[in-house]
Amino acid sequence: MQNFVFHNPTKILFGKNTVPAIGNETALFGKKVLLVYGTGSIKQTDLYERIIESLQKAELTIIEHPGVQSNPVLSHVHQGIALAKKHNCQVVCAVGGGSVLDEAKAICAGSTVEHDVWKFFTGKKSVRNPLPMTSVLTLAASGSEMNSGMVITKEETKQKFGFANRHLHPKTSILDPTVTFSVPADYTAFGAVDAISHVLECYFTTEDPSTPVQDRLMEGLVINSMESCNKVLKNPEDYDARANLMWTATLALNGLTAAGLGKVGFPMHMIEHSLSAFYNVPHGAGLSAIIPGWMRFHAPLAPARFAQFAERVFDIREGNDLEKASRGIEQLCAWFHKVQSPATLSELKIPTNEFDAIAANSMTIAKVWRMQGYDTAKIVAILEDSV
Ligand code: NZQ
Ligand code: ZN
Repeated sequence: MQNFVFHNPTKILFGKNTVPAIGNETALFGKKVLLVYGTGSIKQTDLYERIIESLQKAELTIIEHPGVQSNPVLSHVHQGIALAKKHNCQVVCAVGGGSVLDEAKAICAGSTVEHDVWKFFTGKKSVRNPLPMTSVLTLAASGSEMNSGMVITKEETKQKFGFANRHLHPKTSILDPTVTFSVPADYTAFGAVDAISHVLECYFTTEDPSTPVQDRLMEGLVINSMESCNKVLKNPEDYDARANLMWTATLALNGLTAAGLGKVGFPMHMIEHSLSAFYNVPHGAGLSAIIPGWMRFHAPLAPARFAQFAERVFDIREGNDLEKASRGIEQLCAWFHKVQSPATLSELKIPTNEFDAIAANSMTIAKVWRMQGYDTAKIVAILEDSV
């Protein structure tokens, strides 16, 4: 167990009928709110009206910044910052999935500085006193509701960069599983894949040889993601399954699983962010296409670790470590296909003649993230293992 500091300041209101609290929770931080949301899903139900009603009841003046696209882009962040500055908003309220919450965090960071917000993403500036943010989560996936990270794409350079800063934790996030009933099957599955990937990144990159507490927590989160996703795909309004999936996704990336693991990396995300930047693939779909290849590449380097995963998550008992490891990867691929998420790059129609460009793009992320042990040749080899 390595030394660690675990401090997660985000207050979570979880469960049915928690949405009406958003007004009072947001009014704690100011009287004028920038309301950030996506391209329309919150208006397909009565969620938009309920949010407006709650914010107005709390006597907040509302400035709206709609139109956040999935895989959010820097140009739209700039528009949100300009709006927040023009109207002197004191707090930002995000209603949506990870894309909306991430764009809101970037707006919070950029609204209190004169320089381009992108400088935070390239490590040239660090965040000091961003605007406070509250959120209502509408899709279980990214964990953005309870972490300090965000990912934005600079369109002109096709760079999808992410960073985290302790000042950017949402103050309060509201997680009402009924709000996710309307999430379609594909994004339900992509969200479960994303949550699983957040666990796998830590599980397979920690260098600590003995982490039994974290291992069983992580293995349980992977099993829960798969089991609750299977149930939701059978019945999209299964409250318990939606609740389990939602809380699992939050726990998968709120810092708890990584506490005590020492240094961990996010290599699968590093490569996936290039896929989303180049081809605008849904984040979870890009991950499920990359994960098996990444695991196949690394299993021979740590067979016991991959065998433990196979035993504890898929109950694979026969064979030596390497045989168990590859059967575990096969089972994970089979589950990806079961939930209609791609398990190879060819299913995503990623052109093999662009692997060098994808690898070069991923290396720009590796540089900003100071990730060791990767070069374009290794990334191309992993892409080739993922075809
Ligand atoms: O445009 P809207 O109306 O929001 O529609 C969205 C979007 O089309 C829709 N949707 C969301 N909630 C819904 C709904 N549709 C029906 N009913 C609902 N209740 O679903 C689509 C996808 O939404 P999006 O927010 O893009 O999905 P997700 O939550 O998976 O977020 C993906 C983004 O999160 C980033 C990814 O890079 C990607 O940009 N991540 C953020 C992380 C973080 N902050 O820590 C870590 C993650 O690894 C990830 O990188
Ligand atoms: Zn992710």
